[in-house]
Amino acid sequence: MPLTISTTDVKQFVTPAQLDAIVPEAEAALRTVNDGTGAGNDFLGWTDLPTRTDDALLDEIKEAADGLRSRCEAVVCIGIGGSYLGAKAVIEALSDTFSALEPGRIGAPKVLFAGHNIGEDYLYDLQKYLEGKQFGIIVISKSGTTTEPAIAFRILREQLEKAVGRQAAAERIIAITDAHRGALRKLATDEGYKTFVIEDNVGGRFSVLTPVGLVPVAVAGFDIHALVKGARDMQRQTADPTPDNIALTYAATRNVLYRSGKHTEILVNYNPRLHFVAEWWKQLYGESEGKNNRGIFPAAVDNSTDLHSMGQWIQEGERTIFETVISVDKVKHDVVIPTDSDNLDALNYLAGKHVDEVNKMAELGTRLAHVDGGVPNIRITIPEVDEYNLGQLLYFFEKACGISGYLLGVNPFNQPGVEAYKRNMFALLSKPGYEKETEAIRARL
Ligand code: PA5
Repeated sequence: MPLTISTTDVKQFVTPAQLDAIVPEAEAALRTVNDGTGAGNDFLGWTDLPTRTDDALLDEIKEAADGLRSRCEAVVCIGIGGSYLGAKAVIEALSDTFSALEPGRIGAPKVLFAGHNIGEDYLYDLQKYLEGKQFGIIVISKSGTTTEPAIAFRILREQLEKAVGRQAAAERIIAITDAHRGALRKLATDEGYKTFVIEDNVGGRFSVLTPVGLVPVAVAGFDIHALVKGARDMQRQTADPTPDNIALTYAATRNVLYRSGKHTEILVNYNPRLHFVAEWWKQLYGESEGKNNRGIFPAAVDNSTDLHSMGQWIQEGERTIFETVISVDKVKHDVVIPTDSDNLDALNYLAGKHVDEVNKMAELGTRLAHVDGGVPNIRITIPEVDEYNLGQLLYFFEKACGISGYLLGVNPFNQPGVEAYKRNMFALLSKPGYEKETEAIRARL
């Protein structure tokens, strides 16, 4: 069964007229994405990326990844925002939950992440962990100038070069960046690193299906051909303004809800492996839509864990929220609840049931309770968490995001607001070229 969407539990919160009215608008927004006639149309390379990605590129990525796998016990993936969250989401979703506790080995390295924060202790701990280990680096920066990954790369490159020498280090570094521009491109050319290109017309948060996401996922040992196949199929399924276009349905539904005062969307999962899919989704929608004083605020919870922390708020707090649940049909493994002759915990009524049966009832019970409590509910169902279905899900969210951004009336493909903190940080750090800003900001302190 393919990815499906249900909006049944939205209908009681909006009128049929509201729903009918948004459909032609959503179809027009989809056409704007497809025709490339809207704002930010120089960043639409992601729309046909899956069908443009040929097997030759996937094979080249696999070969480079195998090269790192054959040399390394650990590979540090350096990047931030769109240059890290997609890979992290896919790897976490596909990995055994406790595999992180096992040591990596040559042939099956651990993929670690850095450059997505400026935590000194984080980098200290990472350097300590890497001491005496065979490690490699994937450094990802589209601009090639982002401060967080640049700092991490400088520190870890020095560590690697000290450990194995400059030439051997160069054989263990893959750089993913702009084809021509930026400091990282120059460094990669000078040092002879293996490189992959992030196309000009694909923004960071839409880049998971480029080498940005595919290289780390391949290094982690997962099937990038299947991931891209899932995305290709979803690209075809969401191409036209037909009634069964699920991206169109999702974009239209969330915007109807937004217009009726539901300003926060909570992405809900009942599978802890999907935590970082939600983090990736938060960036995709937050950075695409939060502008011009508009935008649905993207939040996320991991249930049933968060039912014991955020559940109260969702059930009875301010009624400005709606939920989108990622429901997974089939788990990977069997764990059955045993019978206990003493039954002191009174759980024998569950004996013989799979844990997932309980989880599914928690999910259904929560949906009914939240709808009763005034929280509209969109449900996206995927058959299982594997490469193919993740490829489907990622592309589905991307396509819906483009449509939704245009429905909101914003340019979904820029992020001007991200520059404000950088300007202040550079001024505070007295970066050359920021002398005036430094003077101005110091006067404020
Ligand atoms: O979506 C985006 O454009 C951002 O999140 C970027 O990916 C992030 O800022 C990192 O940028 P870069 O890849 O240029 O280092």
